[in-house]
Amino acid sequence: MTFSVAFNWIIALFSLVPFIRFGDDWKKSLQLPPKDTRVRTSDVTSTKGNEFEDYCLKRELLMGIFEMGWEKPSPIQEESIPIALSGRDILARAKNGTGKSGAYLIPMLERIDLKKDYIQAIVMVPTRELALQVSQISIQISKHLGGVKVMATTGGTNLRDDIMRLDETVHVVIATPGRILDLIKKGVAKVDRVQMMVMDEADKLLSQDFVVLIEDIISFLGKGRQILLYSATFPISVQKFMAKHLHKPYEINLMEELTLKGITQYYAYVTERQKVHCLNTLFSRLQINQSIIFCNSTQRVELLAKKITQLGYSCFYIHAKMMQEYRNRVFHDFRNGLCRNLVCTDLFTRGIDIQAVNVVINFDFPKNAETYLHRIGRSGRFGHLGLAINLITSEDRFNLKSIEDQLVTDIKPIPGSIDKSLYVAEFHATNPNCGALELLNW
Ligand SMILES: *[C@@H]1O[C@H](CO)[C@@H](O)[C@H](O)[C@H]1NC(C)=O
Ligand SMILES: *[C@@H]1O[C@H](CO)[C@@H](O)[C@H](O)[C@H]1NC(C)=O
Ligand SMILES: *[C@@H]1O[C@H](CO)[C@@H](O)[C@H](O)[C@H]1NC(C)=O
Repeated sequence: MTFSVAFNWIIALFSLVPFIRFGDDWKKSLQLPPKDTRVRTSDVTSTKGNEFEDYCLKRELLMGIFEMGWEKPSPIQEESIPIALSGRDILARAKNGTGKSGAYLIPMLERIDLKKDYIQAIVMVPTRELALQVSQISIQISKHLGGVKVMATTGGTNLRDDIMRLDETVHVVIATPGRILDLIKKGVAKVDRVQMMVMDEADKLLSQDFVVLIEDIISFLGKGRQILLYSATFPISVQKFMAKHLHKPYEINLMEELTLKGITQYYAYVTERQKVHCLNTLFSRLQINQSIIFCNSTQRVELLAKKITQLGYSCFYIHAKMMQEYRNRVFHDFRNGLCRNLVCTDLFTRGIDIQAVNVVINFDFPKNAETYLHRIGRSGRFGHLGLAINLITSEDRFNLKSIEDQLVTDIKPIPGSIDKSLYVAEFHATNPNCGALELLNW
């Protein structure tokens, strides 16, 4: 070999280099969406710290995932993805908005074999809107996979179009039960080689209207099919279905019920003008470790925070009109115990999960039971005690009664003295009388 030939070889090798990807270089070419900075509740943030890259997914799928703006798997995704990839049935309790569709679409798309031109997976959903939403997401995350064919088919659209579409290759069908059953029975949709069926919002899919259709559809699927079932609630219908059609499902439950267990609830009748005075009395008589005080508007939060400071108590406040980043910081500081009291509007959608908060005060009483539950309820994970005090004006009487009824709970008139063992953690109720604190002057 002459020198110049060898030299040419070297040149040729170097010119190849740009086409060889090393390590994480592929990430540089991703087109990432802007970051989402909204507050996220624990059902999407309390993860084990896994990365999407931990699941040995195809790089092209990872690219689609990252380009959706999904940086790390959410809790439901951490639980679902590895199990679903292993082929096991799943029974998961999860709400929407927690990354549920990613939890099943990612393993589903990973397992689609593009060399096969038949339907390999079905996602059953109760509504057309959800079908479109899910198919949109699957198209986006499979963007780089090169040729995964996803089809949405729902009632209320032209059947002939769907029939024509099924003449071509389809790998994934996202469907409402009635339409897909129709297509199966016509022999147009061939589902005998489907390896994975997902049921999203299964509680709705297994309602009386649908359950017969679902069972019918399942009877057409191949043996050994995997079923992934996602449901916000577990009514009898879902349990029966599970017993009949799921094989040793892996159970995931990421929804902690908010509970009023362990929370002693009182109300005090006041006029609007007496509210601040009453709050002052509460501050001076109760043994507050940390408290959260709810008002019904941004303006009232600011006014009350000012009053509380004037009364000589420390307090932070947050409301919906503040910059998100600032709100997060204040909440973080409160959680870390930098301040004893927090005044706010309704910001918590998952209940307060701060263990140190032992008193919650509704300075303005909420109008509906759900809001009340989110303000007062706890996830029950800590099993801790607490006190909820509601300032009730004559306008709130009706709401008080209605919320008590709806939540099947008891909100009692505030007594002259409150036993500390009901809400103070360090207090051991060996001698309850010592703990009684005088709360006269209502
Ligand atoms: C989320 O789930 C609830 C309860 O299943 C449902 O009523 C609601 O329509 C869902 N929202 C979306 C956007 O799918
Ligand atoms: C908030 O509460 C105050 C006092 O009870 C009342 O006057 C006002 O109308 C309430 N505002 C809203 C938005 O409910
Ligand atoms: C009381 O609050 C502080 C923070 O303000 C916290 O560190 C401490 O653990 C709390 N005590 C109890 C018993 O919750």
